Amino acid sequence: MSILSDKHLLLGVTGSIAAYKAADLASSLTQAGAQVDVILTPAAEKFVPPLTFQSLTGRRAFTETELWGGEAHILHVGLGHSANLMVIAPCTANTLAKLAHGIADNLLAITGLAARCPILLAPAMDVGMYEHPATQENVRILTQRGVVFAGPGEGRMASGLEGRGRMLEPAEILGHIRVALGRGGPLSGRKVVVTAGGTQEPLDPVRVLTNRSSGRQGYALAQAAVDAGAAVTLIHTPTGLTPPVGARLVAVRTAEEMLGAVLSESDGAAALLMAAAVADFRPKRAAPDKLKKGAGIPQLELQAAPDILAALAGSRSRPRCVVGFAAESRDLIANAASKLAAKKLDMIAANDITAPDAGFEADTNRVTLLYADGRQEALPLMSKSEVAETIVAKLGMLLETP
Ligand code: C5P
Repeated sequence: MSILSDKHLLLGVTGSIAAYKAADLASSLTQAGAQVDVILTPAAEKFVPPLTFQSLTGRRAFTETELWGGEAHILHVGLGHSANLMVIAPCTANTLAKLAHGIADNLLAITGLAARCPILLAPAMDVGMYEHPATQENVRILTQRGVVFAGPGEGRMASGLEGRGRMLEPAEILGHIRVALGRGGPLSGRKVVVTAGGTQEPLDPVRVLTNRSSGRQGYALAQAAVDAGAAVTLIHTPTGLTPPVGARLVAVRTAEEMLGAVLSESDGAAALLMAAAVADFRPKRAAPDKLKKGAGIPQLELQAAPDILAALAGSRSRPRCVVGFAAESRDLIANAASKLAAKKLDMIAANDITAPDAGFEADTNRVTLLYADGRQEALPLMSKSEVAETIVAKLGMLLETP
């Protein structure tokens, strides 16, 4: 169950060339399990017809015609009252001004005024319009009133101008929607630190010793913690993955750097989810210059890398709840149980890396959770997102136990 399943969203679309991107957003939200009711302003209809949204959401898309239909008096109130969140993407300077000043002269503006749910706006306009003092004043008024803004971003606009005013991409808006829906969730008010990715230990200026961790499980955990309302810090190695909107990012490469980041970020944190695949061994020395073929085969001398969880176990900055991960190719449960004890963890997620549908690089994972009190829970094969949601839900329960 993702944060979007069974949520009722109201998607307002206004008359900007970015309206075509709203179709993508409506589709992603629907695919993620949300019920999406779309309201188009008359200007939006000139860019994208309601049929596009109707086909993507499987629900009726509302237009100005409905405002003058028989159900109009209940429509705008009903839509705004039953929604979990109202999103306007793209939101033009015109609609932004209407919302700021309580002008209600079209179905979308009326619904915005009648809405009792949080409102998120993704502005889209030319740079001069966005930077105009009138718009800036309207943004300030709405922000003070608790309206949330996603963007605008910077870049090239349809007019050929460059600057701030470009609507964020649908995937980013989706990230902001998750943050808005997660507010007040089970982990709200708590800081959660997540580590992700494989560390890289340099051999020379161009080569590193690393592992096959993709970082996907860790990023999914960070997203699930954001969804649960936590203040998330994601300590990550270079992965090429898109981090969740709302997470604070700390980029590291080596085990040593990750150790420093975990120790400082854990201060004041309620939980650490240590999903990173940290090197156990690293080269004793990194060559200052590139190792040359002509100089013969280098003899690598390795030494132990710092064990972050072991270092944290005895430290004052140890969060209330520490969750480790065990990736094993044999004796999975026995190995995970001994790590749980040795690293003084509250929970460990054990995954068998020999299965083709689980572990490194796969989109799915099959995990057994082991707890400090001896309990074990074998989870079925799930997507890494579902594994993450389950672990975060269990974390919430652990943090609730006195
Ligand atoms: O002992 P092992 O490395 O297999 O334990 C795995 C768990 O310990 C993972 O949660 C991993 O992030 C963490 N770890 C660590 N420091 C290391 C190696 C692993 O904290 N040097």
